[in-house]
Amino acid sequence: MCGIVGCILKVGSVAPLIHDSLKRLEYRGYDSCGVATMDRGRIYMKKDSGSIDEVHARLNLDDLPGRIGVGHTRWATHGAPTQVNAHPHLDCKGRIAVVHNGIIENFAELRRELEEKGHRFASKTDTEVVAHLVEDYMAGGLGFVEACREAIKRLRGSYALAILCAGEERIVCARKESPLVLGVGADGMYFASDIPAFLPYTNRVVVMEDGELAVLTDSGYEIRRIDDWSLVSREPKLIDWSVDMAEKQGYPHFMLKEIHEQPRCLRDTLRLQPVYLDLMAKFLDRAQELFLVACGTSYHACLATSYLFSKLACRGSHPVIASEFIQNYGNTLGIGSTVLAVSQSGETADTLSAVSYAKDRAATILGITNVVGSTLTRLARVYVCQQSGPEIGVAATKTYTSQLSVLTQLAIKLGMLRGKIGHVEGEELHEWLWRIPDITAEILDSREKQVMELAKRYAGSDKFLFVGRGINYATAMEGRLKLLEIAYIPSLAYAGLEDHVFGFVDGGTIAVFICPNNNSRKVLIDEMNLLRDVGANIIALAEEGDVEVAEVADDVVWLPAMPLDLLTPIPYIVPLQLLAYYTSVERGLNPDRPRNLAKSVTVK
Ligand code: F6R
Repeated sequence: MCGIVGCILKVGSVAPLIHDSLKRLEYRGYDSCGVATMDRGRIYMKKDSGSIDEVHARLNLDDLPGRIGVGHTRWATHGAPTQVNAHPHLDCKGRIAVVHNGIIENFAELRRELEEKGHRFASKTDTEVVAHLVEDYMAGGLGFVEACREAIKRLRGSYALAILCAGEERIVCARKESPLVLGVGADGMYFASDIPAFLPYTNRVVVMEDGELAVLTDSGYEIRRIDDWSLVSREPKLIDWSVDMAEKQGYPHFMLKEIHEQPRCLRDTLRLQPVYLDLMAKFLDRAQELFLVACGTSYHACLATSYLFSKLACRGSHPVIASEFIQNYGNTLGIGSTVLAVSQSGETADTLSAVSYAKDRAATILGITNVVGSTLTRLARVYVCQQSGPEIGVAATKTYTSQLSVLTQLAIKLGMLRGKIGHVEGEELHEWLWRIPDITAEILDSREKQVMELAKRYAGSDKFLFVGRGINYATAMEGRLKLLEIAYIPSLAYAGLEDHVFGFVDGGTIAVFICPNNNSRKVLIDEMNLLRDVGANIIALAEEGDVEVAEVADDVVWLPAMPLDLLTPIPYIVPLQLLAYYTSVERGLNPDRPRNLAKSVTVK
């Protein structure tokens, strides 16, 4: 995965602006970067391996001349993260510059064809074929835009592309299955993989769709369908995310900032328009068979939701990891199937494949996502935006709790629709949901220091075990994922202790129990005792004042009493997010940049 950004200004120098915008896209990739500008009929380019700061310190990205330019921050997919493989990529004569996010599946055959015609390739990337293809079509007599269109028609795979040409006061952009947005500013036109990139400069945004090509000039844009060249008319939308929302606001890392944003995000989720939740509840009610499909953290939200649907609405469902969906359920799908896909980005390749497959077999598609205009929103019959605002930290935190809040609201609606929850009970549950943002704020205020101390004490441990039952099995899984993802400590998550776990546990093991006051509590206390006997250190998350837990656990993180077990996953995940964060920091790692991971997995 990579981030692309660029701009064509009416006046002024574009390079510092592209450098600044690239910094806000680093969450999409950070192994190499580059910028190309066009000035007085020439392309200028700087690129190298390393983070944007490192490359800037070496090369000074700000002094490239011109008011037109494109930039790229890379997460290697084809070719190692080296200077030569960094984007932009040029044609043979250095007159075409291309930045790309995605994968061109047929690049090898295109490269062979172009090499046979005499084109010389500098890199090992799939992207470079685009520059040479455009060059080739222009050499054949086509104008810049027409050549881009013909080149793009030859590509198989996914792309968000931007192309510069020496002597052309225009940028050509195109999109298929990789996100691409345009920004309409008073001082010029912008494009980027994601809105925060240009948010300080404009909040007037046009979301490009698959199969579209846009020509940007300093005063506007024209979008056309690549296949039939028909004109697309699409007005910009105003985005109400502030620039502050997309920056760190004084926190050392985006992840910590986003953990602290949760009370506000949770409040926002409670201000959703009821009409879409109501409509979604109707589809869920009538589904013959219901699948909850997602990856990673979003899958854990689905797992929790299956308990919510079952307990609040007597609605059975299958939570499925998206990459397994087609194998496991492909043959059984049909018109009676409903897929509720949950994806923060709305662009995760496995989730989209599962959804497209189900849609082709007449299944009803519903979506929960954080990105309006994402592919998932276009595939879904009904979608609900989870209202978290942009999440820059690679590890999902606020988007998880927002998903849980939206899905809990949905479960309550479904329960009421199916007559399983009375009105009074429904309203009480809603009132509690409204208290959760304050409860979360209180946990952050009162428990962060304690969790920081725990992280200090246990950061050197070589294994962790997370145990949670019922709906908090999802909490255990998510706590484990966070720790594994950003602190790289081998960890397991269990719903109940199985015999073989005891072979794993020794004096160096930290066992984290999610133990609210519910009907699993006794069993969990027994299991804490068993693990303590074999030497594990026990950290328990438990309800304020639970003396029995305090007797057996080495450390207890006290959490407020909740009226219903089903409402505990949001407050109980917060200390585990903090534990992962501070453990990562203690280990000298950067929690915002886990190795081998990018924010959105848009390729399979
Ligand atoms: C974990 C994480 C990933 C994502 C997963 C799904 O912290 O960020 O595991 O949860 O890649 O992403 P979305 O929700 O965008 O489909």
